[in-house]
Amino acid sequence: GKILVLHGPNLNLLGLREPQHYGSSTLASINQQLIDLGASQKVSVETFQSNREYEIIERIHATLQDGTDYIVINPAAFTHTSVAIRDALAGVKVPFVEVHLSNVHARETFRHHSYFSDLAIGVICGLGAKGYAYALEFVIDRLKSAK
Ligand code: DQA
Repeated sequence: GKILVLHGPNLNLLGLREPQHYGSSTLASINQQLIDLGASQKVSVETFQSNREYEIIERIHATLQDGTDYIVINPAAFTHTSVAIRDALAGVKVPFVEVHLSNVHARETFRHHSYFSDLAIGVICGLGAKGYAYALEFVIDRLKSAK
């Protein structure tokens, strides 16, 4: 099994960036936890972050060739803007879970709409970095029960 974890723009600044919303963990430490969680379940977890819409789209397209079973994605600000990333996910048909560190519904109204949620298997928001781990556990369970 293979799971791709995608992080959108500004998430490279985690730890430093608005800790009241996003917590104090760095992206590197979150990614390492996810990779370790995958390894403990014999599932390969790859992580990818980009500040560029184009690179995220290209990485999603590459899943057509690399055997990715599920995607866990925090599209960050692209959540609220990107028809293009939405269309990439719809195009490759890899099932995905949407994750946000903060509770977007408790914040500015422009964060309440997502271009992804109606296509996602499910959405986790407001649970901080643990949201990624919960999403990963969920897709690993699905992967194992599909066998
Ligand atoms: C975010 C929420 C978005 O509104 C914001 O633009 C982000 C991060 C989150 O993880 O809470 O960059 O996706």
